[in-house]
Formats: sequence, structure tokens, C-alpha cells
Amino acid sequence: MTTKTVSTLIAGVTAQLRAVGIEDPAINARLLIREAFGWSATDQLANLLESAPIDQLPLLESLVERRINREPLSYITGKTEFFKRQFSVDKRVLIPRPESEQLVIQAINYVRKYGIEHPRIADVGTGSGAIAISIALEMPSAEVFATDISPEALKVASMNADQLGAEVGFIQGNLLGSLQGKFDIIVSNPPYIQSHKIKSLEPEIGREPLIALDGGTDGTKVIVPLLKEIQKMLKPSYSAAYVEIDPPIADIVLKTAKARFSYAEVSLLTDLLGLVRSVSIENN
Ligand SMILES: C[S@@+](CC[C@H](N)C(=O)[O-])C[C@H]1O[C@@H](n2cnc3c(N)ncnc32)[C@H](O)[C@@H]1O
Repeated sequence: MTTKTVSTLIAGVTAQLRAVGIEDPAINARLLIREAFGWSATDQLANLLESAPIDQLPLLESLVERRINREPLSYITGKTEFFKRQFSVDKRVLIPRPESEQLVIQAINYVRKYGIEHPRIADVGTGSGAIAISIALEMPSAEVFATDISPEALKVASMNADQLGAEVGFIQGNLLGSLQGKFDIIVSNPPYIQSHKIKSLEPEIGREPLIALDGGTDGTKVIVPLLKEIQKMLKPSYSAAYVEIDPPIADIVLKTAKARFSYAEVSLLTDLLGLVRSVSIENN
């Protein structure tokens, strides 16, 4: 193997990734190189004009091959960022997305707005635990529970809670069925993709657990029963639920939520691009 400088290597890996249609190939190339060489961003910059460490090149080649086969970058590096913190992820869990940070912000804002001192909060379908753990770390006075139907996902979530020093009660079960008592706040990013659309999404998404994605024929297979359970488990006043959705199911979810929570303020919340991202149910 010939010795190349790190910057030449970055250019070469970028070209390989671009050729197979990977989005943001230059960023992917830099991150794969950092992973293979055990470098920080600063190490990489400092070494741009140096020779690449030859011993690590076989590992780099295998990581690039995995990426070319459309394994998500976060599964290859084993980590992702969510709400300022780093979470471990692997194929047992959905990779948390930045848009789900909105659920954390909504929960925090509601608790602060109404001065709820020791809120009981539940996160349904916690996956890697990113939402529940972020809430627990931002609001240490909260009692936070998180459920998932997948025992494998809960192992990842518990590991993240330990690594980040968060106290969250993780319980395996269907929706809210395994939890007791009433809650001030319930948040959830449930599976909501319409089944027939899953195959046409980016190949990387197909590597994530189907149970984390598949919302059934019309996308509401999990959300409709979830809304029913939320109604039973929310405290009667000064309580709120925030459920992530996507634009194709916004109308049906809004209609269902308005019918079920006729006494509450029900609305759709959008993201910075103006796309519907969640349904908000506030019980004041
Ligand atoms: C879209 S992922 C969200 C994961 C995580 N909350 C996040 O935002 O990154 C949905 C999660 O819901 C879980 N799930 C699916 N059906 C469920 C059910 N009936 N009850 C509880 N959890 C469920 C899946 O295992 C998956 O972890």
C-alpha cells in the first residue's frame, strides 16, 4: 500500500463515497478516517499534510466498505449527537434525529411555564433513550420513565443512561401499559412511516429496526392506540403530551387527537422549515 497524505486520503475516500451516491461524502470521509485512526477533529487537521498511518489503512478500508454498503455512519462510529450530548447507537435502535429534540424542548418549556416542581414524565418508545435521558439530565427534579416494546433497544437505552449519569426508569412493554400512575408530561416519537413507503426511503433507513419505523398502512397503527393510552395516563390538569409525527399523517392525527381530547388544546407544531413535526396536547 502506498503512503498518502491524510488530505489525499480524504479526497480519495470522498470520491469513492460520492461515486455511489452517499450524501455529504466529504463529511463522511473525514469522520470515517477519524474513526479508523482514533483521531479527534483537531488531530485530523494537524495531520492533513502528514502521511496517513499505514497500519490503520485496512481498518479504514473496511469502514469505507461498510459505508458504501449503506450502513449508516452512526452505526459505523457507534455514536451520534442529540441535544448537546453523545449517545451510543447500534442496529438495535433508531438513530435519534435532530427534529426529535423538539419534544425535549416542549417538555421542558411546559414544566417551566407552569412551575411544575417534581414532574412525572414518560417517554414512550424510547429507543436509544435519547429523549428520556435528555429530559432527565435537563430537569433533575423530574421523575422520568421510558418504555419500549423492544428489550434490545432498552439495553442500549440503559447503557446510555449509565454513561451519561441519568436516572431513568426503563420498562419493557407495549405503549404505556407497563407504567403505573398518572403523568404530567408524556412524550413519544413512535413509528409513523406508512408501510408501503419504507422501501422507497434512503437505503440507510432500511438498516434501522423495522419496529422503530413501521406505522402500518396509514402510518397511525401505533399512534392511534397511543393517544387512547395517553388520555388515560395524563393528569387531569396542567399536563401535556407531545407526539412526533410527519406531514403525511398530520391531518388524520390532528382529527383523532381533537376528537379524543375535546377538553384540551390540541395543535400541530412545525419545525424551522415549516413542516409539521408533532402534535401537541395541552391540558390547562
Ligand atoms: C421512531 S423510534 C424512536 C426512538 C427514540 N425515541 C428516538 O426518538 O430516537 C420508535 C421506538 O418505538 C418502539 N416501539 C414500537 N412499537 C412500540 C409499542 N407498541 N410500544 C412501545 N414501544 C414501541 C420501537 O422499538 C422504537 O424504539
